[in-house]
Amino acid sequence: MKCRSCRARAVVELRRHNAAFCPDCFITYCRNQVTRAIEEHKMIAPGERALVAVSGGKDSLALWDLLLDLGYQADGLYIGLGIAGYSEPSGEYARAFAERRGARLVEVDLPRDYGYDVRSGAAADHRVPCSACGLSKRHIFDRAALEGGYDVVVTGHNLDDEAAVLFGNLLRWDVAYLARQRPVLPGGDGFPRKVKPLVRLAERETAAYCVLRGIDYQVEECPMSAGNKHLGYKDALNTIEERSPGTKAAFYHGFLEHGGMLGAEVAGEERDGLHPCPSCGAPTVGEVCAFCRLVRRAGGDPGRRIPVSSPAAAALPASALPASALPASALPASALPASAREGGA
Ligand code: AMP
Ligand code: FES
Ligand code: ZN
Repeated sequence: MKCRSCRARAVVELRRHNAAFCPDCFITYCRNQVTRAIEEHKMIAPGERALVAVSGGKDSLALWDLLLDLGYQADGLYIGLGIAGYSEPSGEYARAFAERRGARLVEVDLPRDYGYDVRSGAAADHRVPCSACGLSKRHIFDRAALEGGYDVVVTGHNLDDEAAVLFGNLLRWDVAYLARQRPVLPGGDGFPRKVKPLVRLAERETAAYCVLRGIDYQVEECPMSAGNKHLGYKDALNTIEERSPGTKAAFYHGFLEHGGMLGAEVAGEERDGLHPCPSCGAPTVGEVCAFCRLVRRAGGDPGRRIPVSSPAAAALPASALPASALPASALPASALPASAREGGA
């Protein structure tokens, strides 16, 4: 097997592209796919500050590495979810990467900073763990980005993730979710922009990228995700992909191209009737936001500020945040707990 680009010995075969690559050309291929996604969907403009949500897994670490190499200003954000046996090593992988690259890692820890973990939060709020986890992560991504003065939140959702979510949304004809399933969610109204630059790369490609780049990552899946629907959709799509390579990419990218036909016009979050949560300042339609409700029910403290201490936070231009989005106390550095831990420079 020879590399499609340089004819050297190939080490990665991509059946969906009917191609194989040597290590160097595969890394170039990954960079090109990320660059193309960023440009095609106007994800990150030159000079913007990006906050990469890093789980310690292959996707988000590959993404952080790619963005740094492409010259983006990209800090990491790791959220400790308090999942015994899983969260400790995931944090270690994120920290080790940050240290090796001399990159800045912002850390938020649910038990330490808010007084609950995914399991206790889920039980107290009568949710399944993945729902409590998703709610907590989304809230913290948004608050950390706004309070840290970042222009954009970047997540490591890859082609397999997005195709599986699309599959699930279509099976249920969930039009509201379909409308929001874009690789870019615009910012505004108290939300930061959110982008997914890995939508052109498959899961085994980000794994291969990490191996070739010598990036250690957490291989284990979250113990609470076993048997969830999303994994079932992934398996189903993998069976189809095995027989017809390229189907997954055609399915997802076809949706981006023709989604409007389904009424899935480009849309942001549901933004009608939003007002700032009296407890944390996040935009909500409820009396308090869903995150603060969960934290309170779990006996935690929703009033804690996200431990982001960034020079840019103090210098945040007023225009970057709607006045209503945050309580006046949100930005001064004095309001931030000293527990913020950062790796590297
Ligand atoms: P998941 O929801 O686990 O499939 O993860 C999707 C994306 O969310 C990852 O690629 C990361 O960008 C981000 N993410 C997941 N878990 C964490 C975490 N504990 N801390 C920070 N970001 C995370
Ligand atoms: Fe969220 Fe497993 S990572 S419940
Ligand atoms: Zn709130």
